[in-house]
Amino acid sequence: MSELDEFLSESVRIVDGSLDKLIPSAETAPMRLHEAIRWSLFAGGKRFRPALVFAVGRTFDAPMEKLVRTAAAVEMIHTYSLIHDDLPSMDNDDLRRGRLTCHKKFDEATAILAGDVLETLAFQAVAEDASLSPDMRVILIAELAKAAGTPAGMVAGQQLDLEAEGKDAPIAEIEKIHRLKTGALIAACGRAGAIIGEGYTVEAHAISEYAANLGLLFQVTDDILDVTQTTEDLGKTAQKDIAANKATYPSVFGIEETKALARRLCDETILKLEPIDRPKKLLVDIAVHILERCS
Ligand code: IPE
Ligand code: IPE
Ligand code: MG
Ligand code: MG
Ligand code: MG
Repeated sequence: MSELDEFLSESVRIVDGSLDKLIPSAETAPMRLHEAIRWSLFAGGKRFRPALVFAVGRTFDAPMEKLVRTAAAVEMIHTYSLIHDDLPSMDNDDLRRGRLTCHKKFDEATAILAGDVLETLAFQAVAEDASLSPDMRVILIAELAKAAGTPAGMVAGQQLDLEAEGKDAPIAEIEKIHRLKTGALIAACGRAGAIIGEGYTVEAHAISEYAANLGLLFQVTDDILDVTQTTEDLGKTAQKDIAANKATYPSVFGIEETKALARRLCDETILKLEPIDRPKKLLVDIAVHILERCS
C-alpha cells in the first residue's frame, strides 16, 4: 500500500468513527429518519473531503483531535448534497454509492428530511467541538456556511447546474458551476485545515487557491468518469450527464481534450502550493491521485 493509500484509508477509519458517534443510532426515534441518514452516509463514500481536512491540517501541524469533527461535518454536508442531488426533481438518480438512493430505498419526504438534518447536524458538530476555541468554531461555521450556501457556494452551483440543463452553456459558465457546486466545499475543506492549524495568512490563501482548483479538477474528473466508467465501477448510474443534457467539460471538449485539460489543471493546482514553506508531498500526491482517477 502506498503512503497516500494508507493515509486515505486511515482518514476513512477516523472520520467514520466520528460520524457514527455524531449521528443518532438507527434505533433512535424517529427511526426511519435515522435509518435513512445511515443508509446514505455509511454506503462506502470515498471520504475525500474529510481526507483533505486531515491532509491540510497535518501540513499545518494541527492535532488530529482538533480536525476530526470538522472533517465529519464536511462529510455530512457532502452526503446531504448527494441525497438532494439524487432526488427526482434534481438529477433523478436511482443508484448512489453502490446502493439505492435514499428516496428510492425510503421515500422522497424522508430523503429531503435526511438531507436537511445532516446539514444541521454538521453545524452542530462544529459548534459543540470542545477541542476548539469558541472563536475558531464561529470562524469554521461561517466558512462552511458560505461554502455550502449562496451566492458563492454549493447550493448556488446546484441551482445554476439545473438551469444550464439542455442549454449550450459557454465554458466560463460551466467552470463557474463546477467551482460552486463542487469546488466551494472542497476549498472550504482546505481552508478549514489551515484555520485549525493556525496557518499564516499567505499560506492560508495559497491553500485556499490549491483546494479551489482541486475542487474544479474533482468535478472535471467526475464528468469524465460519468462517460468512461461503468455503473458498477461508479456505484452510480453511468452516462447520466448526456441523458440529462448536463453542462459538462466533456460535452464541450470531448473526452481526450478534457483529459488534457485535467492534466493542466492538476499542474496548476500543485503550483498554487508554491508559497507554502512546509512539507507538501501529501498535498501534491492528493492532486495527482484525483487526476489519476480518470487516466
Ligand atoms: C460525488 O462526490 C459528487 C461530486 C461532487 C462530483 P464523490 O465522488 O466524492 O462521492 P462519494 O462521496 O465518494 O460517494
Ligand atoms: C454533484 O454533481 C454536486 C453536488 C452534489 C453538490 P453531480 O450531479 O455531477 O454528482 P453525481 O455525478 O451525481 O455524483
Ligand atoms: Mg447534479
Ligand atoms: Mg448528480
Ligand atoms: Mg456527476
